[in-house]
Amino acid sequence: MGVPLLDLRAQHASIRDEVVAAMMQVVDCQAFILGSPVELLEAGIAGLSNTRFAIGCANGTDALLLSLRALDVGHGDEVVTTPFTFFATAGAIHNVGARPVFADIDPDNFNLSPQAAAAAVTPGTKAIIPVDLFGQLAPVDAIAAAVPGIPVVEDAAQSIGATREIAGRKVRAGEAATIGTFSFFPSKNLGGYGDGGMIVTGTEELATRLRRLRVHGGMKTYYHEEVGYNSRLDALQAAVLLAKLPHLEKWSAARRSNAAYYDAAFADLADVRTPSIDAANVSIYNQYTLRVARRDELAGHLKSTGIGHSVYYPLPLHLQPCFAYLGYAEGAFPESERAAREVLSLPVYPELGTQQLDQVIQSVRQFYGR
Ligand SMILES: Cc1ncc(COP(=O)(O)O)c(C=O)c1O
Repeated sequence: MGVPLLDLRAQHASIRDEVVAAMMQVVDCQAFILGSPVELLEAGIAGLSNTRFAIGCANGTDALLLSLRALDVGHGDEVVTTPFTFFATAGAIHNVGARPVFADIDPDNFNLSPQAAAAAVTPGTKAIIPVDLFGQLAPVDAIAAAVPGIPVVEDAAQSIGATREIAGRKVRAGEAATIGTFSFFPSKNLGGYGDGGMIVTGTEELATRLRRLRVHGGMKTYYHEEVGYNSRLDALQAAVLLAKLPHLEKWSAARRSNAAYYDAAFADLADVRTPSIDAANVSIYNQYTLRVARRDELAGHLKSTGIGHSVYYPLPLHLQPCFAYLGYAEGAFPESERAAREVLSLPVYPELGTQQLDQVIQSVRQFYGR
């Protein structure tokens, strides 16, 4: 028996009764769009991220799109972000009509480098989007300090519940930025049974605008102050997520414990670099990502021994064909390009047993002849 990269059925089996009961309540009410489960989830996520306002929306991509619109980012504007992220981060910038401007990552934690971000700022920069990659918070505080006066949208799609100590206080994912965005894609630590997203902010005017933008730009039915989107969170998804929310901390702790187990098991392998988590950070390990020598060969070996794995992400965004118009050449962001050649993510989901972890470890060690 192999080990999958992720086993959603194992998690569902452990909470099936709670989730199905919550879903059936919505079904019996026949109220499917927004409504009380969404409001309760919004309150829960505002609490979890220690922010005043939370606004549910259709997915994490829309959460970014709506956030940029709420900040009046549009045609002719520039938005600085990392090229080493999931496509949606830069796709949202393009789709509001703005220009993605990339800046390289810090090789230790894969997150946007504050110095590189500051160097990429021009008079046209309207916002900056750091991404909390793989579950570790980006240094949003340092980035905000390096680019004073520019709003920061924290793409926290992979980091719900993670913390970072800033000035002696544990700050939550989404809290330190002007706006924070979450995804409830099923593979996230808090995943729905379909798509879903959430936006958090401490600014009331932004929250009001975001609520309007998600319902076609008008709060009064059939009257529209601006052109918005249909980007509402389903009541069914909210009900599922509300049922899962009380388990989140325990699940993320189990991921951390699995990560620590791997860290110890790989410590003597010179060709394997385990994730480095900044001393100030508590990661939620949405992914456990190694940097390794002979990455593609190792991937082939894992596959042949039935071990699930994935490369997040094989081609940095500045080299994607759709962004050729931005004019970046290979070599423009060496750390992102090197990361794309070296990274490999292993199974780290909370339901993994010791036997499965050992199977993964054995396969990796076997490849390096140890
Ligand atoms: C970093 C990042 N940003 C944005 C998204 C987009 O989220 P969604 O798939 O919910 O649209 C994701 C998730 O897939 C992500 O990992």
